[in-house]
Amino acid sequence: MGRDVIIACDFAGAEETFAFLDKFTGRKPFVKIGMELFYAEGPRIVRSIKERGHKIFLDLKLHDIPNTVKKTMAVLSSLDVDICNLHAAGTTCMMEAAIEGLTRPDGTRPLLIAVTQLTSTDQETMERDLLIKEPMEEVVMHYALNAKKAGLDGVVCSPFEAAKVHGACGADFLTVTPGVRFADGDRGDQKRVMTPAGAKTAGSDYIVVGRPITAAEDSVAAYERCVREFCD
Ligand code: C5P
Repeated sequence: MGRDVIIACDFAGAEETFAFLDKFTGRKPFVKIGMELFYAEGPRIVRSIKERGHKIFLDLKLHDIPNTVKKTMAVLSSLDVDICNLHAAGTTCMMEAAIEGLTRPDGTRPLLIAVTQLTSTDQETMERDLLIKEPMEEVVMHYALNAKKAGLDGVVCSPFEAAKVHGACGADFLTVTPGVRFADGDRGDQKRVMTPAGAKTAGSDYIVVGRPITAAEDSVAAYERCVREFCD
C-alpha cells in the first residue's frame, strides 16, 4: 500500500456514518473506525463498510495478556480489516502473540501498528502515574523498536516524529500520523499540527484526518484537497 489519507469516522452510529460515506461517489476513502463506533454497532459495521468498497483501519488499541490478544486478533483478522492496532506498552511478547493471532492459514494478515505513548500523556503524567522517568522521545523510540522487533509493520505517531521513527526502524516501517490540519483550517483540540503537504515532506506514510474532512461544509472537496496535498 502506498501513501494514503485515512478519514477518522468518529461518528456515534451507523446511520451518521453511512450518510457521510454516501457523499463519496468517486474514489472510496480509506476509513478509520474507532472504539465508539465499533462498540456501538459491533462487527457488522466493519463488514458493511468493507462491502461498500472501503479499506479499513480498525482502531481498537488492544492491550491485554498475550493469549487474549492473540485470540482477539484472530477475530479481527477474519473481519478482513486492512490495518489494526495495539498498545506497545503491552510488551514485545504480547505484540508477537498478536501477529500470530492475526496471521491467517494462508500466511496473509492485516497490517499491525502500535500506539507508543498516547499524545494525551505528557512527560509529567508519565513520570507521576506510570513511574517512567526517561524522556518521552526515548520512550517512544524504544516502544517503536520493540514493535519492530516483534514483527509489527509500524506505529501511530505525530508527523513530527515520522522521520525519527523511520531513522530508527527503517524506511519501510510505517508511520500513521494524526494531528493534520489545513494551513487555513481550525486546529480544534490538536496541539502539534502539520498540513497534509508538511506530513508528506516529513515522511508520513498515512495521515489520519478527522474533523477537517468530517466537519467541512464540503467533505468530499476537503478529502480531495488532502489527497492532492499528501499523495500527489
Ligand atoms: O478530528 P481529528 O483530525 O483531530 O481526528 C484525529 C483522529 O486521530 C481521531 O480519531 C483521534 O482519536 C486519533 N488520534 C489522535 N492522536 C493520537 C492517536 C489517535 O488524534 N495520538
